[in-house]
Parts: sequence; C-alpha cells; structure tokens
Amino acid sequence: MGTILIIILTIALLQSEVQSKVDGNWTDWSTWSACAITCGNTTQTRSRACTNPPAADNGTDCEGTSDDYQPCLREPCPVDGNWTDWSSWSACSVTRGSATKTRIRTCISPPPAHKGTECEGASEDYKSCVHKPCRGWGPWSEWSSCSSTSGVGIQHRKGLGILGPASQV
Ligand SMILES: *[C@@H]1O[C@H](CO)[C@@H](O)[C@H](O)[C@H]1NC(C)=O
Ligand SMILES: *[C@@H]1O[C@H](CO)[C@@H](O)[C@H](O)[C@H]1NC(C)=O
Ligand SMILES: *[C@@H]1O[C@H](CO)[C@@H](O)[C@H](O)[C@H]1NC(C)=O
Ligand SMILES: *[C@@H]1O[C@H](CO)[C@@H](O)[C@H](O)[C@H]1NC(C)=O
Repeated sequence: MGTILIIILTIALLQSEVQSKVDGNWTDWSTWSACAITCGNTTQTRSRACTNPPAADNGTDCEGTSDDYQPCLREPCPVDGNWTDWSSWSACSVTRGSATKTRIRTCISPPPAHKGTECEGASEDYKSCVHKPCRGWGPWSEWSSCSSTSGVGIQHRKGLGILGPASQV
C-alpha cells in the first residue's frame, strides 16, 4: 500500500511540474513605424515581445527575433546644381576689340539631378586687362592690334622717327 501511495504521489508531482511549465509566446507584431520621409530611402521597423505569455517554469523561450525591418523607398531626393570653382584667369587677349581675361566654371559640382535647381549666374567671367607691350626702343608709334585673339599674339609698333607720323602706320 505504502509503495503504491508513493508512486501515485510521485506521478501527481511530475504532472503538476509538467503542467506548470509555460512556453513563451510572442505578442502580435506592432504596426510598422512611419516612413517619415518625402524622398530617399529609410527603414521601417516593427516589434513584438515574448510576453503572450512569457516563458515560465522552464518552458521554452520564444523563437525568432523581436524586431523586424523593411525598406521604405521613395523617389530620389532632388540634387541642386552647384558650380565648380572658377578656373584661373586666362592670359590677356584681345576679343571683341578690347583686351580681356576670361575665367570659366561649370555646373557639375554636382550637376542638378531629380528636379534639383540649375546653377544660377554666368559660367563665364571677363575682366579687362592691359595688354603688355613688347620691349623695344622709343620713340614708338601706337601699338597695332594683336595678331591673335587668344594665347600668344604679336603686336607691332614702329619707330616714328624713321617711318613717319603714327597716323601713317
Ligand atoms: C500565441 O499568440 C498568438 C497571438 O496572440 C495567438 O494567436 C496564439 O494562439 C498563441 N499561441 C499560444 C500557444 O498561446
Ligand atoms: C534607394 O533604394 C533604391 C532601390 O533599392 C536604390 O536604387 C537607390 O540607390 C537608393 N537610394 C539611396 C539614396 O540610397
Ligand atoms: C527548472 O529546471 C531545473 C533544471 O532542470 C530544475 O532544477 C528546476 O527545479 C526547474 N524549475 C522549475 C520551476 O520547474
Ligand atoms: C559646391 O562646389 C564647391 C566647389 O567645388 C564646393 O566647395 C562646395 O562644397 C559645393 N557645395 C555643395 C553644396 O555641393
């Protein structure tokens, strides 16, 4: 009788242990976080917790991750155009009847993209300059116009005493 009672009590105890064991279970996923951008890409997240119910009395923990991610893709953001720095000034040269130096810039730093704005202002800049005369002996006539409109050109002047007045040169 005593042995049977002990066996029954042992079985009852084991059953109560088995029954008290609680496996963890996930809550439902939360809603996705907002995709709070108007352009470009970001990530949305959602989460859940192992509290539905939580694991207890040596029950198994929830499997898997508590966080989930998904990409949120929008139109690419506009990129406004931007000028490069100005180039250095060109050599002084005669264009359109006056001596000028030129410098340039381009709208590629970066170029406009995805409906971004164009660069504002001019891509070329001029300033007048003094065309340096060649060295020589005086007295001289007026300088002729330069033979070249860019790079290196040649200007003439003549000795007034030999060739006559400047008006004839
Ligand atoms: C786990 O939780 C989900 C969501 O609340 C529920 O649908 C499911 O029945 C639960 N499972 C168990 C074993 O508790
Ligand atoms: C946004 O995602 C798209 C598609 O995956 C990709 O082609 C693009 O390069 C991404 N843009 C940025 C700014 O990360
Ligand atoms: C959990 O398991 C350990 C080791 O198997 C045991 O010692 C402990 O009594 C158990 N706890 C419960 C509450 O079942
Ligand atoms: C515009 O370009 C200049 C010259 O390259 C650079 O220094 C500057 O950082 C750029 N600005 C922007 C907003 O890209």
